[in-house]
Amino acid sequence: MSAGRWLERRLKLFYLLLVSSFSLAEEQACTHRGDLEDAQLIKKGDIMLGGVFSFHSSWRNSQDNYEQKPQQLQCTLNFRDFQFAQAMLFAIEEINNSSDLLPGLTLGYKMYDTCGSIARSVRVALALLNGNEIEALPAEACTTPAQVQVIMGETSSSPTAAIATAIGPFHIPMISHFATCACLSDKIKYPSFLRTIPSDYYQSRALAQLVKYFGWTWLGAVRTNDDYGNNGMATFIATAQQLGVCVEYSISFFRTDPLEKIQNIIEIIKTSTSKVIVTFLSNMDWDVLLQEFSRNNLTGYQWVGTEGWISDSQIAAMDKSHILDGAIGLSIPKTHVSGITKFMFNVKPLNSSNSVLFREFWEALFSCKFNQSNSGEIQKKCTGEEDLTGVENSFTDMSLMPIFYNVYKGVYAVAHALHEILNCNKTCDKNVQLDPYTILQQLQKIHFKTKEGDFVYFNENGDPPAKYEIINWQPRENDTVEFVSVGIYDASLPEDRQLSVTNMSLIWAKNSLQVPVSVCSEKCPHGTHKVLQKGKPVCCYDCVRCAEGEISNSTSISCLKCFPEFWSNEGRDACIKKEELFISYEEIMGALLTTASLLGTCMTALVAAIFFRHRKTPLVRANNSELSFLLLFSLTLCFLCSLTFIGQPTDWSCMLRHTAFGITFVLCISCVLGKTIVVLMAFKASLPGRNITKWFGPTQQRVSVLGFTLIQVIICIIWLTMAPPLPIKNFKKFKDKIVLECDLGSTIGFWSVLGYIGLLAMMCFLFAFLARKLPDNFNEAKLITFSMLIFCAVWITFIPAYVSSPGKFSVAVEIFAILASSFGLLICIFIPKCYIILLKPEKNTKKNMM
Ligand SMILES: *[C@@H]1O[C@H](CO)[C@@H](O)[C@H](O)[C@H]1NC(C)=O
Ligand SMILES: *[C@@H]1O[C@H](CO)[C@@H](O)[C@H](O)[C@H]1NC(C)=O
Ligand SMILES: *[C@@H]1O[C@H](CO)[C@@H](O)[C@H](O)[C@H]1NC(C)=O
Ligand SMILES: *[C@@H]1O[C@H](CO)[C@@H](O)[C@H](O)[C@H]1NC(C)=O
Ligand SMILES: *[C@@H]1O[C@H](CO)[C@@H](O)[C@H](O)[C@H]1NC(C)=O
Ligand SMILES: *[C@@H]1O[C@H](CO)[C@@H](O)[C@H](O)[C@H]1NC(C)=O
Ligand SMILES: *[C@@H]1O[C@H](CO)[C@@H](O)[C@H](O)[C@H]1NC(C)=O
Ligand SMILES: *[C@@H]1O[C@H](CO)[C@@H](O)[C@H](O)[C@H]1NC(C)=O
Ligand SMILES: *[C@@H]1O[C@H](CO)[C@@H](O)[C@H](O)[C@H]1NC(C)=O
Repeated sequence: MSAGRWLERRLKLFYLLLVSSFSLAEEQACTHRGDLEDAQLIKKGDIMLGGVFSFHSSWRNSQDNYEQKPQQLQCTLNFRDFQFAQAMLFAIEEINNSSDLLPGLTLGYKMYDTCGSIARSVRVALALLNGNEIEALPAEACTTPAQVQVIMGETSSSPTAAIATAIGPFHIPMISHFATCACLSDKIKYPSFLRTIPSDYYQSRALAQLVKYFGWTWLGAVRTNDDYGNNGMATFIATAQQLGVCVEYSISFFRTDPLEKIQNIIEIIKTSTSKVIVTFLSNMDWDVLLQEFSRNNLTGYQWVGTEGWISDSQIAAMDKSHILDGAIGLSIPKTHVSGITKFMFNVKPLNSSNSVLFREFWEALFSCKFNQSNSGEIQKKCTGEEDLTGVENSFTDMSLMPIFYNVYKGVYAVAHALHEILNCNKTCDKNVQLDPYTILQQLQKIHFKTKEGDFVYFNENGDPPAKYEIINWQPRENDTVEFVSVGIYDASLPEDRQLSVTNMSLIWAKNSLQVPVSVCSEKCPHGTHKVLQKGKPVCCYDCVRCAEGEISNSTSISCLKCFPEFWSNEGRDACIKKEELFISYEEIMGALLTTASLLGTCMTALVAAIFFRHRKTPLVRANNSELSFLLLFSLTLCFLCSLTFIGQPTDWSCMLRHTAFGITFVLCISCVLGKTIVVLMAFKASLPGRNITKWFGPTQQRVSVLGFTLIQVIICIIWLTMAPPLPIKNFKKFKDKIVLECDLGSTIGFWSVLGYIGLLAMMCFLFAFLARKLPDNFNEAKLITFSMLIFCAVWITFIPAYVSSPGKFSVAVEIFAILASSFGLLICIFIPKCYIILLKPEKNTKKNMM
């Protein structure tokens, strides 16, 4: 049964008890149910404070058989809570001595022992409410007002929760010095609970951040199986998960658990792969666990602790096998309360009403006996005059000073609240009727400064501001451990600055100076990304290489796509610029094409020179020298325009490319066409009765060449204005390369230009074909037919080759087509004539022409 439900049931029972005893009181003197709870320490005062401590820590579980009364708990002594009680006495005496705070009034106290047991805690809570001690038994006992105004305590969370639940409905304030469970901040369940130690809500978060800070993402977790451990660990795990930290196992333990449970825990720790273990354990649990751990050599683990034990030198002293060396954790910041140590060593004030407890305490403190037992074993006899100087045990150890200070602050908070309520100024108004609810309201508003200079106040949940010190257990040569403060955690700061680890000279488990590694899977190397393993926590993953075009270079979970201009390198850890594809002058193909183009230009120039030199010869004259020179000129341009296709495309070269090519070719073809028509006309003119020569004289020739060219110019102008070709980066053709090319802008424009050239070429071919049989020695028609055949063949094969060539090769194909067709024209039309002019001058006569 969970502690909560158990409590609920018990409480119902106690409420019934209370109600029945109140109603009975009207008729008859009230009687007590069950055994009386004796206050362990009591001192009368004007205003009484309650104290609840675990003077005993652990008990033997005994099974109830429901046939006889449950046995009294068998408890063992716990010095630490005697220290807390002493701290409370110190604060009370200081206030009592002071003339500023509560002048003329004395504080009294009444302390009970809960033995760390929830059941006992509830009994104690009711005893504090009712004051059912023996001497208060007379008839009026049940009608006197609340015996104590405020309850100080308890040390552990679960008993505190039990008491706070019981007293909550009566609004009796309770101030704990060490109960850290975040559950106690719930003001609906525990309306009258306040504390001077920060809530685990902050500690769990701080621990998660600490673990994350050192890069531990694969943890074990051990917790006390009570409200403190369960709540604290639940918050820790939730926060850790948000930070990407995984918990491999989480085991609970309680100090009364059987030995098999501890064996089981050791087995789990040994078989797991995580090397860092986070604990939410109280010192009392460590007392039990440490012995078993050292018997099993459970060393080499990095322990992360809470304020419950991390600054407890008693545990450090117990840890003879160095299991906890290098532990790191959070503790309440170190403080010092002046005068408290001296006060604490004087234990005589603890001897008040219950001298049995004091005797037990005294005997344990000095390891002696007042009464010698008869059973042989001889022990030192107590004299009652023993001195604490030189004694070393957890009572004389002052490492829990921050907790003493919490007790001290709690008592002072009550005193300040009372001071306000009683309107104290030189003297206090003793007529004010004290009411726990008023005190509670005043406590929630309190804001004062202690003599050590710290401000004390509670937030709306009754919690103080959260500040922790980060403690590292550093082993020293003389077999002791030093608690070195290595940083702080301040919850009042913004999230990214809360944790600050200042001292990096940390010592870890196994005396290592290296931060231990505790991960499920190693960090993925560059160029890979995480793929979670099925059914495992998010910290366990495989590293998978990034796909092409994606990279991961640091901590990114998934691979990032490179920008379009970039591509991943071989290692997949950087994006590199994609190779840019275009025909450049430097590469072989570009150089060859350039050479061919220049060669063509030179050849054309040479032919022109030969023609010019022999311009007077009949051959040149007969063949319409003006058109021939124009044709040679346009062929030069044709060769040159292929150069605009080479090199990185720019706005200008793109626009120039197709238009220059279109216009020069049209000029060229129209010259050839002119020549063909002239040949046709010449033949027709030679027929009788016709005089067609007049119709197609040089003027008409010029006009027609100009006209044909003008049409192409207009087409080009329209194309350029409507949708001009512009350079683009084509990412689609290759995934790792960019093709730099000219977008056609308008495909209609492009194909119109080509189509118009084609049309003229077809016409030319047709006319030349008609004229090929004409009797003329220098009949150019045959040559023109042949050249047009080459021309058309080149351009018809160009189309499929252009469309299907990848990348820059389509441009190369176009250049090749231009060069081939230009060479075709040059060679077919002019080379035979040059041959005659240069080598067969005998044929170059007027006679031969006829
Ligand atoms: C408080 O101080 C007065 C004298 O100042 C003393 O008589 C009384 O016993 C003290 N009470 C406690 C609880 O210390
Ligand atoms: C209270 O006053 C008494 C007598 O003056 C003194 O002995 C004692 O140390 C004082 N206690 C504290 C806690 O200051
Ligand atoms: C622990 O270590 C000691 C010596 O190193 C060895 O004798 C003992 O058997 C070990 N115990 C266990 C449970 O491994
Ligand atoms: C405690 O006080 C009682 C009486 O007040 C006394 O008889 C007893 O000896 C004291 N105990 C010690 C250990 O001093
Ligand atoms: C100590 O011994 C006396 C008699 O010798 C006895 O009356 C007393 O009860 C004993 N006390 C304890 C705690 O045993
Ligand atoms: C205390 O009383 C004096 C006169 O008796 C007065 O002057 C002073 O203001 C009072 N202080 C407070 C805080 O009320
Ligand atoms: C161990 O050494 C430290 C200093 O290194 C010292 O402070 C401490 O008192 C020593 N402890 C013992 C038990 O000698
Ligand atoms: C860091 O810790 C070492 C002890 O381990 C101490 O000597 C040193 O003073 C500390 N430095 C700071 C800056 O706190
Ligand atoms: C990782 O790559 C991204 C994108 O390429 C870049 O912005 C970042 O600076 C790189 N980080 C490292 C650590 O190389």
